Amino acid sequence: MSLVEVRGLKVHFPIRAGVIFERTVGAVRAVDGVDLDIDRGTTLGLVGESGCGKSTVGRALLRLEPATAGSVFFDGEDVFAKTGEELRRLRRRMQMVFQDPLSSLDPRQSIGSILAEPLRTHDVVAGPALDARVRELLDVVGLPTNAVSRFPHEFSGGQRQRVGIARAIALSPDLIIADEPVSALDVSIQAQVVNLLEELQQRLNLTYLVIAHDLAVVRHISARSTPAARSGSRPAATTRCRPCASCGRAIKCSATGPRRSRPGRSRPLTPAPCRQPRPEAESMVRPGGLPGDSPPTVGETVMSPSAGGEPNRGRLS
Ligand SMILES: Nc1ncnc2c1ncn2[C@@H]1O[C@H](COP(=O)(O)OP(=O)(O)OP(=O)(O)O)[C@@H](O)[C@H]1O
Ligand SMILES: [Mg+2]
Repeated sequence: MSLVEVRGLKVHFPIRAGVIFERTVGAVRAVDGVDLDIDRGTTLGLVGESGCGKSTVGRALLRLEPATAGSVFFDGEDVFAKTGEELRRLRRRMQMVFQDPLSSLDPRQSIGSILAEPLRTHDVVAGPALDARVRELLDVVGLPTNAVSRFPHEFSGGQRQRVGIARAIALSPDLIIADEPVSALDVSIQAQVVNLLEELQQRLNLTYLVIAHDLAVVRHISARSTPAARSGSRPAATTRCRPCASCGRAIKCSATGPRRSRPGRSRPLTPAPCRQPRPEAESMVRPGGLPGDSPPTVGETVMSPSAGGEPNRGRLS
C-alpha cells in the first residue's frame, strides 16, 4: 500500500460576479481529476508550468485548500474524513516546505521560537528537552546553535530555507511536500539545499512530493526520472494531466525507489547528473513540449494547464 493515494482530486475555485448581489458565474478548475500514488521513502516530482495547479494539489493534500471532489488516503486513512484531534494527528505526519523562506517564517519570532512552536503545539516535548530538540534540529540542517536567538532577517536565503526545512522535520513527519523549495534561492545555494533534502530523506526515511518548475531539481532529489508528457500552450485555467505524447500511454508516475546511502560518498555541491539519459538537462515543461521526450518511467508527474472544459483523466499513479 502506498503512503499517499490520491484519486480523482478536483479543486475548483468559484468565480464570482456582482457587487450587491454576488453570484457564482463559473469556476477556475485549478485541479481537475488527479490520481497519484507515493510509496513510503520515495520521491514523486510534480512538474509543470506556472498556473497548472501544482501548489493547489499540494495544499489540497494537506487540507489547506478544500477539495471539490476526490479522495486522499494517507497511510490508509481518509484525510478528507478526519476532523478535530484525528486531523491534527494526521497533519503532524504531513508537513510542507514553502517556496519563499522569508515570507513563510514569522519575522518577529526568533529561530528558536519558530522551531519550538510545532513541538509545543503538539505536546511533543517540553522544558529542557524542548531546547535540546531545537538545537538538534539546527544541527541536522547544518545551522549553528547560536541561530536559536537570531531572527529570520539575519540569515541568508539558503539559511532561511534550512530553518523552513528544520521546522518541517520537527515533528518527525512521514511526508514532506516541498513546493518549489529552491526556486527562490540563488543558483549557487540551490544545490546545497537540494543535497540537504536528499540527505534528510535517507537519514529520516522521508517521503517527498517535490513540486518544481525545474526538472533538474526533481531529478537530483529523485533517483530516477524522465520527462513524461508534452504540455499544451493553452492558458491556465484547468489543470490537465495528459497522456504522454511520445508513447501514447497515460502518464504513469509512481514514486522512485528509496535511495540507498553509499558509504564514503562525498556530497556534491552542484547537482549531480541525472542517472538516466536526458537530452536537455535544464529543460522545463513549457508550451510546445519537452525536447527529446522519452517514454515515462518513474518519478515525475508533469501537469499542464488548459482552458478546455474536459475533465482531467490523466492517471498519475
Ligand atoms: N484561492 C484561489 N482562488 C482562485 N483561484 C486560485 C486560487 N488559488 C489558485 N488559483 C488558481 O488556480 C490555478 C492554479 O494555481 P497554482 O498556484 O496551484 O498553480 P501552480 O502550478 O502552483 O503555479 P506556479 O508554478 O506559478 O506556482 C491558477 O490559475 C490560479 O490562479
Ligand atoms: Mg505554485
